[in-house]
Amino acid sequence: MTYHTKLNHLGMNRISISKKKKQQSPQIEGSGSGMATITVTRENKLSLFPLLSLLCFTSIFILLSQFKNTSSSSSINTFSSIHTFQIDNKNNNFASCDYSHGKWIYDDSRVSRYDNTCKEIFKGWNCIKGNKSNGLELAKWRWKPNGCNDLTQFDPLHFLNDYTHTSIGFVGDSLNRNMFVSLFCTLRSSISDGQVKKWRPAGADRGFTFLTYNLTIAYHRTNLLARYGRWSASENGGALESFGFKEGYRVDVDVPDSTWARAASFHDILIFNTGHWWWAPSKFDPVKSPMLFFKKGEPVIPPLRPDQGLDMVLEHMISYVEERARPGAVKIFRTQSPRHFEGGDWDQGGSCQRDRPISAEQVEELFSVKNNGTNVEVRLVNEHLVKALKGSGFDILNITHLSEFRADAHPASAGGKKHDDCMHWCLPGITDTWNDLFVEHLNSIKHRS
Ligand SMILES: *[C@@H]1O[C@H](CO)[C@@H](O)[C@H](O)[C@H]1NC(C)=O
Ligand SMILES: *[C@@H]1O[C@H](CO)[C@@H](O)[C@H](O)[C@H]1NC(C)=O
Ligand SMILES: *[C@@H]1O[C@H](CO)[C@@H](O)[C@H](O)[C@H]1NC(C)=O
Ligand SMILES: *[C@@H]1O[C@H](CO)[C@@H](O)[C@H](O)[C@H]1NC(C)=O
Repeated sequence: MTYHTKLNHLGMNRISISKKKKQQSPQIEGSGSGMATITVTRENKLSLFPLLSLLCFTSIFILLSQFKNTSSSSSINTFSSIHTFQIDNKNNNFASCDYSHGKWIYDDSRVSRYDNTCKEIFKGWNCIKGNKSNGLELAKWRWKPNGCNDLTQFDPLHFLNDYTHTSIGFVGDSLNRNMFVSLFCTLRSSISDGQVKKWRPAGADRGFTFLTYNLTIAYHRTNLLARYGRWSASENGGALESFGFKEGYRVDVDVPDSTWARAASFHDILIFNTGHWWWAPSKFDPVKSPMLFFKKGEPVIPPLRPDQGLDMVLEHMISYVEERARPGAVKIFRTQSPRHFEGGDWDQGGSCQRDRPISAEQVEELFSVKNNGTNVEVRLVNEHLVKALKGSGFDILNITHLSEFRADAHPASAGGKKHDDCMHWCLPGITDTWNDLFVEHLNSIKHRS
C-alpha cells in the first residue's frame, strides 16, 4: 500500500490544499513537509490555520505506519534528571524521589481542572465529546511514584502567580501540542474570560498570553527539529546522484526549522520533543523518498541511516539552543510518548480497546526492545535522546514509563477516524499528568536557586 492510498483514506482536505499550492510537484501531496506547510501558511495565514492544524494531526497519525527499528538493544540509562538534579537539596522531596517510576491508582474523588468545553482541544482528542466509554474516568487515575509523595495536580492560579513575566515554548510534533493544549486548558480554567490574548509568538503555530500575569505559552510545530524539504537528482550529477538517489528529502542537520528558530532566544522555558517522524517509512521511504542528510549545505557522504541522522540533528539542535537561549533559561527535553497498537500497526487493524491501565508485565511485553513489537520505537528513541543530551544543559522530562501503562488513554475509535488513534492522548487525560511533572520540575529549579 503506498503512502498516497493511505492518505486518501484519511486526508482528503490535505490533498486538495496541496494540489492548489504545488501543482508542479505531485509528491508534495503526501509530504506534510514542514517547509511546504510554512509556505502555505504564509500565503494564507488566517483561513488555512485551523485546517493546517488538522493536517498536522492527520499526517502524524498516518506517517507512523510501520514504525519498526533495527538498532541495538543496549539498555537505557536509568536516570531521571529530576532525581539527579536535586540530589544536593536534602529538604526537597525531589532529592529522594524518582517520579518516573511508580503505579497508577484509581481515585474516584479526583476531578479534572478543565472539561471537554475547552476550545483548544482538537476534535479527535476530545474523548468525552467523542463518547469514549471511559472518557470521563481517564482523569481519575493518579500517578503514585515509588518511594515519594504523590504527584499532586498543580494549582493553575498559583502557577500563574508564580510564573508572571514568563514565556514557555513547546517545540516539537503533535504530541507536544497535545501537552501544550493540556497546559492551556488547565490555566484557562482558573481565570475569567477576556484575559487571554491569542497570538503567534516568534513564529509559533499557536500561542496565548495570560494578560494579567504576562505569562505566555506557545506551540512551535516541527517534525524533525531540523529543516527539511523535497530533493530531486540534478541532471548534472553530484555526490548523492552517484549513489543512485533520484528523489528524497533533504534534511539540513545544522539548520533548525524556521517554525522555531527564533523560539530558542524568545522563551524563558523551552520544552522539546522529536521522535515520531523518524523512521516513518510511509513518508521517508528508504527507497522512494529517503532522508538525505546535508551539513553546511553539502550532502553528508557516505549517506546516513535515519537513526544516524537523528544523532547528528540532535547534536546540532542542542548546541543551537545552548548558544542562543536566554541567560538562565530552562531547557527541557521530553522523552518519547508511547503508542499502544495491539494486534497490528495502525494500518493493519491495530487497536487499543482498553478501559484501564495495563499491568507492568503487559508493559514489558509491549515495549521491551528485546520483543521488537509494534511499538518498540519508544524506548529506541529514548536511547538516542539520552546519548545526545548527556553533558548538555538540558534536563530530561521522563514521561515514557508512566505513559506506557496507559493503553486506555488514547482516543482509539473515538478519534473519529477509520483507524484507531493509539498514539495521541485524550484530553482531559494523561498529558495533564505530564504537566504536573513539568510544573513540579520547574518549581524544584525555582526553589533551588
Ligand atoms: C523487528 O521487527 C521488524 C518487523 O516487524 C523487522 O523488520 C526487524 O528486522 C526486527 N528487528 C530486530 C532487531 O529483530
Ligand atoms: C525513564 O524512567 C524509566 C522508569 O524509571 C526508566 O526505566 C527509563 O530508563 C527512563 N528513561 C530515560 C530516558 O531517562
Ligand atoms: C455522543 O452521544 C450523544 C448522545 O447519545 C450523541 O448525541 C452524539 O452524536 C454522540 N457523539 C458522537 C461523536 O458519536
Ligand atoms: C512580559 O514578559 C516577558 C517575558 O516573557 C518580558 O520580556 C516582558 O518585559 C514582560 N512585559 C512586561 C510589560 O512586564
